[in-house]
Amino acid sequence: MTGKPGGGDSPVSGRRGEIDRATSLIESARNLVIFTGAGMSAESGIPTFRGEDGLWQGYRPEHLATPEAFERSPEVVRSWYRWRRDLIEKVQPHRGHQALASWCLHSGKKSCVITQNVDGLHQRSGCPDVVELHGSIRHDRCHRCGQRALDLDAVFCSCGGPLRPGVVWFGEPLPEAAVDRSLEQIDDCDVMVVIGTSAVVHPAAGMVFRALEIGASVIEVNPAPVLPAPVLHISGTAKEILPRIFSTGSVNGENPA
Ligand code: APR
Repeated sequence: MTGKPGGGDSPVSGRRGEIDRATSLIESARNLVIFTGAGMSAESGIPTFRGEDGLWQGYRPEHLATPEAFERSPEVVRSWYRWRRDLIEKVQPHRGHQALASWCLHSGKKSCVITQNVDGLHQRSGCPDVVELHGSIRHDRCHRCGQRALDLDAVFCSCGGPLRPGVVWFGEPLPEAAVDRSLEQIDDCDVMVVIGTSAVVHPAAGMVFRALEIGASVIEVNPAPVLPAPVLHISGTAKEILPRIFSTGSVNGENPA
């Protein structure tokens, strides 16, 4: 069930079997969960974290994405997140995001997107139900009292505590409501599609293994798949593959980009 890079067929026709199987699993799903990571946004122009051009090649997570880093050097951390936020504001969801959102809206099926991404691109593409496991870069919150900040330029909360990005850092727990909702959806799902994650950061990655444990069919879309059997691997990118497997009946399964 792995992809067949380098086969005699063109890359797309060589994967025809996997794409057809994925399409029919999605069509017959009762409750579909979509689980996404940084690779989902890569073709919109947002770098992933690991791998050759990943963000963690140029920066050390412990210097930027931990509570200790923020407490030590709040301005360094804030400016790194400001840079990422500015980048995110300039990019657009790609046709993979759009195909997925359109399917969630129009398929008539129960579905939910659970994402580790903090960029809000699923919401901007119109996905109706998105659970953000790692929070959101699009707002700040107080590092002391947790209250959400209304002003992105403010530095202190009304309680006097320092404002920080609304994301989850290494060493911090995931938001309880997001975990509860994710587990509720996964425990009831029969098909999960995992897109663009290295599945190494826990506890979020544990969601994928939970779906496998309960016997759901798991499909992975990734140019370099990482998940173990019996996952159905589709070697390819989100922008290329999602319009093919999340087709709502438009010509060639392509949605306008
Ligand atoms: N389409 C699909 N997948 C892709 C694409 C693409 N265009 N480009 C890269 N990928 C895949 C890579 O092969 C890799 O497996 O996306 C994955 C990205 O992995 P990571 O960079 O580790 O991102 P992610 O799994 O989301 O990281 C988890 O780590 O630092 C943290 O908090 C951060 O939420 C993040 C968490």
